[in-house]
Amino acid sequence: MAIKHFLQFNDLNREELEYVFERARWIKSQFKAYQQYWPLQDRTLVMIFEKASTRTRLSFEAGMQQLGGSAIYLNTRDSQLGRGEPVEDAAQVISRMSDIVMIRTYEQEIIERFAANSRVPVVNGLTNEYHPCQILADIFTFIEHRGPIQGKTVAWIGDSNNVCNTWLQAAEVLDFNVHVSTPPGYEVEAERANLYGNDHYEEFADPMEAARNAHLVTTDVWTSMGFEAENEERMVDFADWQVDGDMMKVAAKDALFMHCLPAHRGEEVAAEVIDGAQSVVWDEAENRLHVQKALMEYLLLGRVK
Ligand code: CP
Ligand code: NVA
Repeated sequence: MAIKHFLQFNDLNREELEYVFERARWIKSQFKAYQQYWPLQDRTLVMIFEKASTRTRLSFEAGMQQLGGSAIYLNTRDSQLGRGEPVEDAAQVISRMSDIVMIRTYEQEIIERFAANSRVPVVNGLTNEYHPCQILADIFTFIEHRGPIQGKTVAWIGDSNNVCNTWLQAAEVLDFNVHVSTPPGYEVEAERANLYGNDHYEEFADPMEAARNAHLVTTDVWTSMGFEAENEERMVDFADWQVDGDMMKVAAKDALFMHCLPAHRGEEVAAEVIDGAQSVVWDEAENRLHVQKALMEYLLLGRVK
């Protein structure tokens, strides 16, 4: 059987995504009912972190344990990865000792090279270009609250970063629209986002116009990990791209607010929004656990029903 990786969102097609969401729903319900479900007994997940994390580490590690398996955490600081061992060699070795690998790193190229030399499935836990597990959780959260996302409009306010690129890919696979507003100079790079075309997103100079009538308003930090040197300049450039109460007012009446977290209140989002009634950020964070359990089950066992 060919190994299946999840390196970018469009590595799964619509049918597969619908299956994963359905499994996530069931796995979540079992978990909430304290029902033991150990399909990955004796399986080992290796998690490699070259950048910081709270949610991704916790959800993968707890998730693997809850499925009956175990998880091993490696970081660049205290493994040979930080001392120049070629990624291809690391992939050969790590994938002989484990059943599935999750990587959080810098350039997408690194994870692609790892996957090309891996004997086991590789999952992207965030790269400079993409954050597919995040959008899996976000869309699952949208569906839980509002039903199918097909035909809906998502407003992305802020940086056209890894999370934005992944929303754009997801829009193509699941057939919804993204209205993007970034400051000048930070526009979507379609090639970097690896899109099939440009018919599922529209760019707006004015963030209020992007948010208008949207069913979901979402944003992320102005400065992503790895771009810290640009922080001061970005604080100035992004000052008008804060999701605040006025912006939520022009969105659809029942619009949701999401943020992958960690958030900076008073920068990309006002406290009244992230802590307000339309915000579903805690469900969104929790759902990382459930969708990633479903994802690991799918990548390791295929369809179980
Ligand atoms: N959203 C997210 O990936 O959070 P962490 O950086 O804490 O893993
Ligand atoms: N865009 C952010 C997401 C953090 C989860 C980053 O890459 O730092």
